[in-house]
Amino acid sequence: MICNRKTIRHFGSRGLLPLLAFAMIAFALAGNPAAAQNSLAPNAAPEASPSGGMVPGDTLGTTSDSDYWRAVRHGLQGNVSIPDKKAGTLVQSEGEAWRSFRNGPLTLYASWALLGTIVVLGLFYAIRGRIRIEHGKSNQTITRFKAVERFGHWMLAVSFIILGLTGLNILYGRYVLKPVIGDGAFGFLTQMGKYLHNYLAFAFMAGLAMIFVMWVRHNLPDRTDIKWLLQGGGIFSKKLHPPAKKFNAGQKVIFWAVIIGGVSLSLSGWALLFPFTTHFFAGTFDKVNLIFGTELPTALTALQEQQLNALWHSIMAVFMVCVILAHIYIGSIGMEGAFDAMGSGEVDLNWAKEHHSIWVEEHQADIHKASGSGGAPQPAE
Ligand code: HEM
Repeated sequence: MICNRKTIRHFGSRGLLPLLAFAMIAFALAGNPAAAQNSLAPNAAPEASPSGGMVPGDTLGTTSDSDYWRAVRHGLQGNVSIPDKKAGTLVQSEGEAWRSFRNGPLTLYASWALLGTIVVLGLFYAIRGRIRIEHGKSNQTITRFKAVERFGHWMLAVSFIILGLTGLNILYGRYVLKPVIGDGAFGFLTQMGKYLHNYLAFAFMAGLAMIFVMWVRHNLPDRTDIKWLLQGGGIFSKKLHPPAKKFNAGQKVIFWAVIIGGVSLSLSGWALLFPFTTHFFAGTFDKVNLIFGTELPTALTALQEQQLNALWHSIMAVFMVCVILAHIYIGSIGMEGAFDAMGSGEVDLNWAKEHHSIWVEEHQADIHKASGSGGAPQPAE
């Protein structure tokens, strides 16, 4: 809601007459606020209004000015001489809708999604246990990720984890943390968290760009993915190891969720970092309308854009946290030998043969070719 004294004073003087006339015409033509805003032609003559351009609400109180205030309440935009034209809207009702959605359904469903993911992973661990290397460790290793790949991954991961924690604090901290640590500590922590959130966003974007460039060619879908998916990735069986290249179909899903979700999160975050400078939603809605024949609003004010950005940023963030919780699980406690890939970069040969057999064959063929030695390379089991 935007309502400051300066603007009220401004409306209250000479600007009131045309404003009122606009409001009357708008309400006479259409009974809803959106239509009212659209039907307000800037050059409409005040005399054309039902009140003949008179200011209602005279000092004797015989004329009601409820129409005027109703128009203001419905987001009518007037003119202001200060540079910030947004101040021309005295009451922006979408602000109230935004607040109730953010503090209501959004917070509630997001918490269900987060708790649901943790419960599902817990159940999976209880039923399936840790995925072991079926043939045991071979004590021979194979290089899975180079230092630059691990650097890109960890820059993305560490920044995401801090962004996730500080972001969840903005959404839930006052319900969960504040009662435990007190107002002062919570205020300090939240302020520090906000600084971290603002600056680490750039490390996240850099990490995202790095992994995209390094791994996109390994994540294009191909025929091996169909077989892998049909066998459920062998995840429910201790003996089944469907063949896979450098990344299996499950990892490709994670990769694209991280890239698409990460770009969306970055764009909406950018819009929040530099408020009122972007028009992402108007542009997107325009394209969606064109493709699907929908009628999403495309004449969005800078403030409406900002509100949609804030909601979308939270939705994408919670979606990403759920995906990443599953990823962290499988990359650490969920699977024996997996963490080494991003730890030292060297994985056990048996682990590699069980989870990425085609990649091992290709890798060994490459080494063989590079060394120029004769004889056929040893196929992976
Ligand atoms: C403590 C946190 C994390 C751990 C332990 C972890 C672990 C791993 C491991 C072991 C791999 C390699 C898997 C393989 O050898 O095939 C990997 C890959 C990857 N990680 Fe992470 N990671 C973490 C956090 C993150 C975060 C926060 C993101 C993104 C926001 C991320 C994105 C990726 C992507 C896109 C890949 C490649 C696709 C895949 O393997 O699923 N990771 N991670």
